Amino acid sequence: MNNAKPDKRPLCLSGKGVTKIFGFGDKKTVAVDHVDFEFHVGELISIVGESGSGKTTLSKMLLALSNESEGQIFFQGKPRDVHTRKSKKKYWQDIQAIFQDPFSSYNVFAKIDTVLLDCINMRGGKGLSMDKKIEMMTEACSFVNLKFAELTNKYPFELSGGQMQRLMIARIFLLKPKILLADEPTSMIDACSRATILDMLLHLRDEIGMTIIFITHDIGLAYYISDSVYIMEHGKFVESGTADEVILHPKAEYTKRLISDVPKIYEEWDLTTV
Ligand SMILES: Nc1ncnc2c1ncn2[C@@H]1O[C@H](COP(=O)(O)OP(=O)(O)O)[C@@H](O)[C@H]1O
Ligand SMILES: [Mg+2]
Repeated sequence: MNNAKPDKRPLCLSGKGVTKIFGFGDKKTVAVDHVDFEFHVGELISIVGESGSGKTTLSKMLLALSNESEGQIFFQGKPRDVHTRKSKKKYWQDIQAIFQDPFSSYNVFAKIDTVLLDCINMRGGKGLSMDKKIEMMTEACSFVNLKFAELTNKYPFELSGGQMQRLMIARIFLLKPKILLADEPTSMIDACSRATILDMLLHLRDEIGMTIIFITHDIGLAYYISDSVYIMEHGKFVESGTADEVILHPKAEYTKRLISDVPKIYEEWDLTTV
């Protein structure tokens, strides 16, 4: 099934027979059905499927927010330990997520400097001087073209949607996780900010060697940004491989149909106008 070329980069996250079943008997739904995957260090992977195909359910298992019904997930080639609260917290230092709705990502009562300070503290920076912390927050903000000085004392809800998205990326800049999972992070914003956000994520990937798992229904976008693509239908991976293999030479009927829905898949996006 996995047509990806042998990859010399070490394994970051992988899974064997990963399955999620909701309910019992007549009401049973197999939301994720025995999927296998191998995500490597620094790789950008897209998981593409229509609504209801199981993408969010799989994401939650990858994030250890929900247990697998069957199968196993491996981190750096070893069975993942997320059985205790302590081991989960440790795992969450290595994997972070950004979600569709940036408003849901923040504690509405925390000011922006607190949001960013929490990230520094989570990475073991509690003992640093305030000057050093401000320097780090300023750097993270300028990485995403925000001005830290204008944000202190504001609450997340006082920001625009685009600023919120960028603040999310500033958090990732400070947290420096090994894996970033982005569940359709760009769907609520316009094409222009979408390109900016993607550009920032790709830049951040190069900067800190992060593995990015991109969850989307947009196969055109997946082609544009991904090294590897996994196509998901009814909880199964029907096809996987490099972006070129899967999207330029699709084998599964489902992949062909997804591609035929995209009018201009070969046209590169123009990021220079952003
Ligand atoms: N908590 C749940 N309880 C029961 N069924 C669920 C639950 N979460 C998701 N499902 C079902 O699992 C399937 C996959 O859903 P989901 O993972 O949200 O798909 P996607 O993110 O690709 O749209 C759907 O049929 C959905 O109704
Ligand atoms: Mg979803």
